[in-house]
Amino acid sequence: MSATTHEPVDGHTDDAAERSQEPDSASAAQSPLVSLESVGKRYGNIIALRDITMDVHAGQVTCVLGDNGAGKSTLIKIIAGLHQHTEGVMRVHGEETTFDSPRDALELGIATVYQDLAVVPLMPVWRNFFLGSELTTGWGPLKRLDVNAMKRIAKQELFEMGIDLRDVDQPIGTLSGGERQCVAIARAVYFGAKVLILDEPTAALGVKQSGVVLRYIMQAKQRGLGVVFITHNPHHAYPVGDRFMVLKRGRSLGYHRKEKISIDDLTAQMAGGAELQELSHELAQLGGHTAELKQVEADVAESLGRSTTR
Ligand SMILES: Nc1ncnc2c1ncn2[C@@H]1O[C@H](COP(=O)(O)OP(=O)(O)O)[C@@H](O)[C@H]1O
Ligand SMILES: [Mg+2]
Repeated sequence: MSATTHEPVDGHTDDAAERSQEPDSASAAQSPLVSLESVGKRYGNIIALRDITMDVHAGQVTCVLGDNGAGKSTLIKIIAGLHQHTEGVMRVHGEETTFDSPRDALELGIATVYQDLAVVPLMPVWRNFFLGSELTTGWGPLKRLDVNAMKRIAKQELFEMGIDLRDVDQPIGTLSGGERQCVAIARAVYFGAKVLILDEPTAALGVKQSGVVLRYIMQAKQRGLGVVFITHNPHHAYPVGDRFMVLKRGRSLGYHRKEKISIDDLTAQMAGGAELQELSHELAQLGGHTAELKQVEADVAESLGRSTTR
């Protein structure tokens, strides 16, 4: 398995200094929808997540960034009710909570859209929109699916989110990846989600399609949802995000409000100051004889300088 079993080499970044978030006067009156306090997760003796503190506020987008294996999915699985934290405290609407199942989380308004969407490609868009929560009409033996209502509502809801589908009868498999993500987001909004968790919704998408999804993230935010947006792309996160957390080997490298971090800093954090330091060390050991090596070393030193001047 991966690097989380190792002792972190970048432990020095994980201290109170990095938690530059102050009491948030603007939203202090409005308590967070979800808050994590020193939350950790162990799978057996693998520590997938440790000491994570963050909040999800209504009408804000909280971005969680990090490379593969950083712990992003583990983090959202805890909030989504798929896994339980083994350390720390999670509060939902102010109450200390541990979910037993995703259904528990959903009942408290926490909806999750996974990258590999659970859609049935050959089923029409409207069927997928209502999958598992079909509307019915009639009663007793006369009860049947209210197809017309479902079609009408699906079309209307998608339209309100800015997706104008001529025909909600078309199989969802005919939509682009971005549109499918949008259908899932519109669905969560319709079913009353307060918190919307998106696990790498743009990872498999091209630039244009990613743009489409980013627009829906803004729509969800404007409708007052608290969005948790997982991505490894700072250029996707920065334009839509209000708060940013970079994870690395299960630890937070910092949790910042947008005013406190530039996109360059965010990118540098993602690129991994610690890794660059290691590289610089290795280069020094190699002797740094050639001009080329010296140049690389200088570049690394410069990036390090930049990522630490905060
Ligand atoms: N169910 C599990 N059992 C054991 N280890 C796990 C499990 N899920 C994730 N991990 C480990 O936890 C770490 C973080 O994984 P994950 O949260 O999926 O990262 P990310 O989503 O950032 O790629 C990885 O080292 C992974 O191998
Ligand atoms: Mg993941």
